[in-house]
Amino acid sequence: MSDIQAIQTRLVDDIAAASDLDALEALRVAALGKAGSITALLKSLGGMTPDERQVQGPQIHTLREAVTAALADRKSALDAAALDIKLAAEAIDMSLPDDAAPRGSVHPVSQVMDELAEIFADMGFAVATGPEIEDDWRNFTALNIPETHPARAMHDTFYFPDTDAEGRAMLLRTHTSPVQIRTMMSQEPPIRIIAPGRVYRSDSDATHTPMFHQVEGLVIDRGIHMGHLKWTLETFLKAYFERDDIVLRLRPSYFPFTEPSAEVDVGYKQEKGRRIVGGHGDDDGHAWMELLGSGMVNRRVIANCGLDPDEWQGFAFGVGVDRLAMLKYGMDDLRAFFDGDLRWLSHYGFGALSVPTLSGGISA
Ligand code: PHE
Repeated sequence: MSDIQAIQTRLVDDIAAASDLDALEALRVAALGKAGSITALLKSLGGMTPDERQVQGPQIHTLREAVTAALADRKSALDAAALDIKLAAEAIDMSLPDDAAPRGSVHPVSQVMDELAEIFADMGFAVATGPEIEDDWRNFTALNIPETHPARAMHDTFYFPDTDAEGRAMLLRTHTSPVQIRTMMSQEPPIRIIAPGRVYRSDSDATHTPMFHQVEGLVIDRGIHMGHLKWTLETFLKAYFERDDIVLRLRPSYFPFTEPSAEVDVGYKQEKGRRIVGGHGDDDGHAWMELLGSGMVNRRVIANCGLDPDEWQGFAFGVGVDRLAMLKYGMDDLRAFFDGDLRWLSHYGFGALSVPTLSGGISA
């Protein structure tokens, strides 16, 4: 074997054994770089006699080609191996649990609405909705609140400058009661719905915000009476506050859309500056607190919706969702509900996955 063939064998073996791209590059420079061994051999051709050059020239060129080819082969092998390692390191196992902590929280108002939907679903109620921009017929007139009736002034209403296509005044609904009208006009009785949502009145202090939340309840069926109303409210409040000692007091009241009407009070006691719902309001250390408005749906309202009031009767109630949340979870300033202060939300907010269920616990 000539010297040149020996060099070729050694170099090709070394190249095939190069363990990484850096080692390969060092071999390339040592052989083909400016001061490389093959470069030196190529230069030496210039100093040879024509006979010597005729013998050695082809050998040296073969050497250079063989080494160049070996370098290219090894480089692509090393590149492929490096890519395999990278892919293996970056592989995502889709079956692994996500270790990111849940972000954000559920607002107490949303949480309480979910709790109410769960409780009433168990009693066979569906959830109904209506628009926040209402017309004055559904918000007032159909609910037996005539044009000149002072009850319209009971609600400080936000009116829009324009009327709708039928010439009715447009307003931000002042209560969820127009959903009663919408439901009776679009569904056949028997009806059992709750309607949670935003309502608007021009009011603002520590216990009033211009936007707040109510939930309306409506039952229309045959032979419905005040007993059904009282049982439903008692069952709902026991489930909501998760205690059996809820005592209600029905006080005669007035709403144009219910007849008779009852203001419903609940017994509570004051404990460490907080109102704790439960117990009889006349018991020692207890008092009554007004909680919601209710009554038997006025015959005129049933007739306004195209139903025969001799055949269909029902009850309705309306309660402040924000107030329910404050009582159960102990917040004292209603305005904080709508400030969007993250500290308040992380203190009073609920985990996105703590969904209320009757079987798993209605409270978060
Ligand atoms: N809509 C009444 C209010 O906002 C509450 C209510 C609803 C009363 C249904 C009776 C029946 O004050």
